[in-house]
Amino acid sequence: VVEEGALKARIKALLKQKDAVLVAHYYTDDLVQELAEETGGCIADSLEMARFGTRHSASTLVVAGVRFMGETAKILNPEKRVLMPTLEATCSLDLGCPADEFTRFCDQHPDRKVVVYANTSAAVKARADWVVTSSCAIDIVEHLASEGEKLIWAPDRYLGRYVEKATGADMLLWDGACIVHEEFKAKGILDLKQVYPDAAVLVHPESPESVVELADAVGSTTQLIKAAQAMNNPVFIVATDRGIFYKMKQLAGDGKEFIEAPTAGNGATCRSCAHCPWMAMNSLELIADVLEHGGSEIHVDPLVREKALQPLDRMLAFTA
Ligand code: 13P
Ligand code: SF4
Repeated sequence: VVEEGALKARIKALLKQKDAVLVAHYYTDDLVQELAEETGGCIADSLEMARFGTRHSASTLVVAGVRFMGETAKILNPEKRVLMPTLEATCSLDLGCPADEFTRFCDQHPDRKVVVYANTSAAVKARADWVVTSSCAIDIVEHLASEGEKLIWAPDRYLGRYVEKATGADMLLWDGACIVHEEFKAKGILDLKQVYPDAAVLVHPESPESVVELADAVGSTTQLIKAAQAMNNPVFIVATDRGIFYKMKQLAGDGKEFIEAPTAGNGATCRSCAHCPWMAMNSLELIADVLEHGGSEIHVDPLVREKALQPLDRMLAFTA
């Protein structure tokens, strides 16, 4: 604890010294979220993280999350230095959608508008007409469908299926998945509901369709936290990364109980499954290290950046 305190104090001093601000995702460790909060940074979902970086005056953004979040920050703020605790923190959706393969796929369907999830590389965004996050995907796809557009959707097939069902849009889905959310099991949730009949089920839409079908609320991390605040159930079964419990308990805690949705059919919870291994890489040690010595800085090729900026700007303008 003493070491933790000293480390936090060191990071606080470094943030000031380097004119830097910490932008953290809800899935990072509690200590990282706490630090973001204590230093005037933000804890947010991917859409709000992107927006926060554009509005804050600091010349350096330290993005505690996964690589696509750092790249998005750099695309939107080329004049700022964007650091990450480690450049190794990636995402299975990003990994599952290589830019060259994706470009070939899009080229085969020139009649379709290309919509990509924020969880993609800068190069994939550069091939897209629109970027969306889970908090605005339905609204944007609904808008495109109302204009008669047929769509390519990548990379998350579960989120794609959810959006397709909700909007009725004509969508060609890429076959990607999140290794964390894909593990949630409907059978386990049903078993838990037997034990806690008053429980509400909160589900991130990267989860399988059978899990989404059991949800009382579906949405982005921010939307799930808001749902927990708005609903009066005594118990919540939560199908998303357990990092979210930090903010959920803080804002909606008041006598409510939060349980991880099971990742095994027998109702047992696999502790390590509902936590993103790449989000977990964002340690206090690495944050201190990158602030002190630099190193893990995000760079995006200027030509790629220019192209990727357009669909990102469209998303920000649409959701403003
Ligand atoms: P949110 O946009 O809901 O924060 O989701 C990001 C993410 O990576 C979920 O797995
Ligand atoms: Fe990617 Fe899933 Fe991790 Fe989110 S939780 S960053 S979608 S692997």
